[in-house]
Amino acid sequence: METLIWDGISMIAPEVLDILRQESAFITSPIHGIKHWRTVERNGHYLANFNGADKAVLSYFAYFHDCMRENEHRDKGHGPRGAVFAMKHRDIIPLNDVQFKQLTDACKGHTYGTRPECITINTCWDADRLDLGRVGIDPDASYLHDVEAKRIADEFDFEKLINFKVKDESRQGIQKVVFDLDNTLICEKGESVRQGMFALLDSLKLNGIEMSIWTASTRERAEPIIDKLFLSGYFSDVVYRDDYDPDATWGRTQPKDIRYSNGDLLVDDSKKHIEFVESIGLKGFCITPYISYIDTNLDEIEQLHQLILPKVKFKLKRENQLLKTIKRLFSKNKPVPKWIEC
Ligand SMILES: [Fe+2]
Repeated sequence: METLIWDGISMIAPEVLDILRQESAFITSPIHGIKHWRTVERNGHYLANFNGADKAVLSYFAYFHDCMRENEHRDKGHGPRGAVFAMKHRDIIPLNDVQFKQLTDACKGHTYGTRPECITINTCWDADRLDLGRVGIDPDASYLHDVEAKRIADEFDFEKLINFKVKDESRQGIQKVVFDLDNTLICEKGESVRQGMFALLDSLKLNGIEMSIWTASTRERAEPIIDKLFLSGYFSDVVYRDDYDPDATWGRTQPKDIRYSNGDLLVDDSKKHIEFVESIGLKGFCITPYISYIDTNLDEIEQLHQLILPKVKFKLKRENQLLKTIKRLFSKNKPVPKWIEC
């Protein structure tokens, strides 16, 4: 199995990380150190998108559960010692009392405890077990609690975890937007980008919004189009049909489940996909299909910007109506004469 590599941010308060650096003898351990803690945090946040576990508790569990180890092997007391260490530093751990109890219970029982009712504690333990690949053990679904965790183990689908990035849960509002490609970003022929779209993407990028593409097109078709139309620089990742629904047929595709991408909002011209993301408690923006020979409704792009960045002003320039008509007439045969453009 491929070693799970951490990529992304952490939700741990800097002062807690300082204490761990000073007092944990295992922070640099390649097996039970910070690399493992970050992977457990990432796994936990991924699972929480599906089961609603508390992400703040998951983050602190990830950093505390192994921090008081005394050896790399059978260290029976390391979980309870991790809990005691958390209690010693209670004042700098920004969890409420219920969350803190879940954290210490999860630490105490993570090696020998019996499964409790609590979804957050169960998810802590699953997140830890899903990183067994680092020591050459394939996680066994029968020792996991969460449905999605079991699916990953059964299908050996660790790629989903590897591609997942933790995001800053303390930030309010939309942080990651997932765009459909055909008829949303680009026209039906794959030859042009929707009018006003580059201005929108520029503003979102400038304001720290992460973006990705989720397309029902195959990688073979979509990848060259994304490059040719200068879109690739805006997006942190692309999900192609090959990645989520290789057996898709015309008009019948799997829903775009943006929890896998840690997305907050899906922008798509398909009502079906929008209804799906709304049904799982996320946001959707149904955009009018972009067709090359029909003018884009720029109001729609401005409304989308307003939804994502309500405090940032954004106004698109409208083309002169007369010039637009002349362009359309000329475009059939030859370019518009320079003297009209001016
Ligand atoms: Fe662990």
